[in-house]
Amino acid sequence: MRVYPTFFRLAFSWMDAERAHKIGFRAIRLVHSCGAGRVLQRFTAPAASLQTRAFGLTFPSPFGLAAGFDKEGHGIEALTELGFGHVEVGTITGQAQPGNPAPRLFRLVQDRAVINRMGFNNDGAAAMAPRLKSARAALQRRHPGVRPVIGVNIGKSKVVELDDAAADYLISARSLAPAADYLVVNVSSPNTPGLRLLQDVDSLRPLLTAVGRPRTRPPDATFRCWSRSPRTSAMRTSTTSRGWHWT
Ligand SMILES: Cc1cc2nc3c(=O)[nH]c(=O)nc-3n(C[C@H](O)[C@H](O)[C@H](O)COP(=O)(O)O)c2cc1C
Repeated sequence: MRVYPTFFRLAFSWMDAERAHKIGFRAIRLVHSCGAGRVLQRFTAPAASLQTRAFGLTFPSPFGLAAGFDKEGHGIEALTELGFGHVEVGTITGQAQPGNPAPRLFRLVQDRAVINRMGFNNDGAAAMAPRLKSARAALQRRHPGVRPVIGVNIGKSKVVELDDAAADYLISARSLAPAADYLVVNVSSPNTPGLRLLQDVDSLRPLLTAVGRPRTRPPDATFRCWSRSPRTSAMRTSTTSRGWHWT
């Protein structure tokens, strides 16, 4: 029996998608907080042969969790206990914001897809910073060798004008980069009006330069930016201590 499809049909399919996500995520965190996650981890830990080197980082496995599931960094440890080699938290913004009014997440069951109109709902970079710091410390303690990688995906606060975007991204970068292994500068969400205009090179270059300045990043962190839109897939960038590399 395939466990998740059966569980989905019986428990989640009749429920509002965002509510199902909240309940599912709460259950994952409960498994962690009652200590069962450590037992689970014996079965889910990736084989050493899966270790993957990318962006100057070593990932325990190439299988990771994309941004949007744990937007506020509440379940980083719990999610790594499921076997993810990295967890990308966010998108987080400089200011706390409620996101779009609900309903804002729609299932297309026949197509096995969802439409996401969440709008960067999150409690802001300052609130996330201590959670991120403590999750990183806990992972370091529990994985003395190669530990799961933590990515932080940052975006623009809706109330901030596009002209002031760099300063807003910097709020997040400064408070979150010290505990992140890599930072993603999100300029691709269709749910924040005008955000994709930041993909223009004249806007993107100063933004990435500001966010990539040394004081916003720890010495071993990797900074990268991508857009998931095909139009700008050529604008994939990464930076190392030597500066930006357009790839
Ligand atoms: C409900 C939902 C919320 C999401 N929120 C974010 C987000 O906040 N930031 C982000 O960069 N991507 C977000 N995503 C996009 C996912 O990270 C991912 O790119 C997308 O689901 C496609 O995954 P795939 O490449 O495995 O098909 C969200 C996706 C969904 C379904």
